[in-house]
Order: sequence, then C-alpha cells, then structure tokens
Amino acid sequence: NKVVLAYSGGLDTSVIVPWLRENYGCEVVCFTADVGQGLQELEGLEQKARASGACQLIVKDLKEEFVKDFIFPCLRAGAIYERKYLLGTSMARPVIAKAMVDAAKEVGADAVSHGCTGKGNDQVRFELTFFALNPELNVVAPWREWEITGREDAIEYAKKHNVPVPVTKKSIYSRDRNLWHLSHEGDILEDPANEPKEDMYMMSVDPTNAPDTPEYLKIGIVEGLPVSVNGKELSPASLLAELNDLGGKHGVGRIDMVENRLVGMKSRGVYETPGGTILFSAVRELESLTLDRETIQIKDSLALKYAELVYAGRWFDPLRESMDAFMKEITKSTSGSVTLKLYKGSVSVVGRESPNSLYRQDISSFESGDIYNQADAAGFIRLYGLPMRVRAMLEKGL
Ligand code: ARG
Ligand code: SIN
Repeated sequence: NKVVLAYSGGLDTSVIVPWLRENYGCEVVCFTADVGQGLQELEGLEQKARASGACQLIVKDLKEEFVKDFIFPCLRAGAIYERKYLLGTSMARPVIAKAMVDAAKEVGADAVSHGCTGKGNDQVRFELTFFALNPELNVVAPWREWEITGREDAIEYAKKHNVPVPVTKKSIYSRDRNLWHLSHEGDILEDPANEPKEDMYMMSVDPTNAPDTPEYLKIGIVEGLPVSVNGKELSPASLLAELNDLGGKHGVGRIDMVENRLVGMKSRGVYETPGGTILFSAVRELESLTLDRETIQIKDSLALKYAELVYAGRWFDPLRESMDAFMKEITKSTSGSVTLKLYKGSVSVVGRESPNSLYRQDISSFESGDIYNQADAAGFIRLYGLPMRVRAMLEKGL
C-alpha cells in the first residue's frame, strides 16, 4: 500500500517519511503544492524526498487554481473571519488537499497523510476535504500518534533513520506562506500583549519606512472579481502578485489578532496580506454603487457564515457552495473600477465608477433635480415615524 504525504521538505515532513514506512509499512509518495509560498530549488526537493525514503515526489503548480477558484470566491463573498482574518491559510488547505486526493488516485494510494499538529485548524481542513472528495482514503496524522515531541526529538529520529536533517535553519515562528498571505504564530507572539518585532515581517515594510509619496492605483472589476490593475489585464495569480508588491512596498495589510481556533483554544496570530487588503477595499467599495441597502445587509450577514465555514475547513460543504452561488448571482452587476491611494500602511478609496451604478447625481445632487420631489418627504416621514408617534402618545396619555 501507498500513502500520499503533504510534503514541504522541512524537518517535520522529512521525519514523517521514515516514520510512515516504519509504522505503516507503506510506500510514501511525497506531494508538494506550489501555492505561491516561494518554493526554492525543486530539483533539490526531489532528491531530499528520496533521501528521506520516499519513492516519488509529485509537485503541482496550483497557483492559478488557488487564486481563481478559492481566493476569488472568498473575496467576492467578502469573507472575513472574526472581524480581521482574510483566511489565507484556510483557503490554501482545501486546494492542496484536493490535489492530494487526485494524486492518490493517480498513483493508486489508499491513504493520505499530513504534518499538521493535533492542536490546530489545519488538520481539520485537510481531513474534511479528504472526507468530502474521497471518503475511502485512510488518513494518517503522525503528530497525533507519535512520541516525537520537539525539534531535538525529530533530529534524533532523523539521524537514527539516516534521513538527512534539512540544513535550513528553523525559524522561531510557525509560519505559513502562500500567494495571498503570510502568517506568523508562536514564540514571543504567544503573549498577546507583546508587540511583534519588526524583523518578523517578510511581505511588507514598516509603514513608517514606506515611501513619503502616496501611490494611486486603479483596480478594474468585472462581476465582483478583479481583472486589471491600472488598465492592465492580468491573470488572477499575477494580479495578486503585483498587488502584493505594491501593497508590501507601502506597508499595507498587517493584521495582529487573537482568534478562536475551531478546536476551542484562542491563538494569537499576525498576518501580512498586502494584495488581499487592497482587493478587499476595492471590491467592497464598488458594491456601494451597485448594490442597494438590503442586498448589502444580507450579503454581509451571509459573509460571516461563509467565512466561518471556510475557516472550519468546510470548503466542499454544499452549504458553502450554495452560498457561493448566491454571492456570484448578487455580484453580477458589480463591474467597474475603484481608485485607491496607498500611503504608509493605509489603503484609502478615492474614487469609484460603474456602468451599473445605482447612484444618480440627478437625484442626489444638492443643486436641483425633478425626479425627487422634496414635498414627498413630508408624508414619507409621517408614515415612517408613525410607530414612534403612537408610542410617544401612549406614554403621554394622549
Ligand atoms: N491561524 C491561522 C489559520 O488557522 C493560520 C494557521 C497557520 N498554519 C500553519 N501551519 N502555520 O488559518
Ligand atoms: C498546526 O497546528 O498544524 C498549525 C496551526 C493550525 O493549524 O491552526
């Protein structure tokens, strides 16, 4: 039998390879997804996987699929978890797990494995995706089973099994990077009172060191999704990469929060989401022209649940999929452009335009207008305020 392992080439996943062979007597196929984490030296990775005892390494470039089919739907939905988190890791797990299910089919594996700990969200996201897409696959989560507890243990296990210990120095933070974001957890961040050290950040400059002149940019949007930057049409992944550079240069998109993990504990995390922060401002802003009051209210209220489902690993849940159909339908008219200004960590909206705009200057203007008759307002206010008048009359015994 064979197992497909989500593999990064780091110490943990390198140790999982011999551990799986020893404890499950199976062949190990390593699987590495490129979701924009900045994969270095692919050839070296194949060698490394084999040196750990894997029979094969599969590398899949998932960048466009990740942005188009996972990130963009969340952007269109306006999905934000617990007021701040733009879901970078949450969206990446289902795209990786889905590709692992496909890989398992390809190589004839009957099991899948990952290196997530038993304390986090990621294990849930991987495994719910496995369940949804192939309930027959066995799942092995070494962190929930083995005796290895720390880095020293892992190095010792590697040496005992003749697995080369990865030379890359382990960062003090637990990080997860992809095209959308970079997350930092652990070390001094574990005390929510501690301010992060400036040298922790990798995608964005310190806003105080950002350029002293603001930078303007225009995002083109079609049906609730971004398609261009400053008039230049770009594929989803390249558009995001470009905005990451721009946003990072201006110190945009740093988020520091304490969140509630699905497994019940609170956890402090710091996220860098430069391009994503720009895109959320732009798309949300255009809706102010294209959607009316009640539609925005309902959309925003569903977005809360949508974000919760994504955070909890329920990407392939029919509930999320149906809500996504709603989001797609309701944003059909959200096309146009938004002009933004980036300056020392901030994104400000300075203009918005849409051929489907519901805003009418001939109605709204202070100057004049004959569609809106001011005299109509008197009757409207009397009826709109009738319940208030009735209540006040009661209180006053009238
Ligand atoms: N707390 C975030 C989330 O649950 C980030 C998790 C980061 N994952 C990691 N393996 N370092 O989505
Ligand atoms: C992990 O525990 O594997 C990372 C953190 C998380 O999944 O929330």
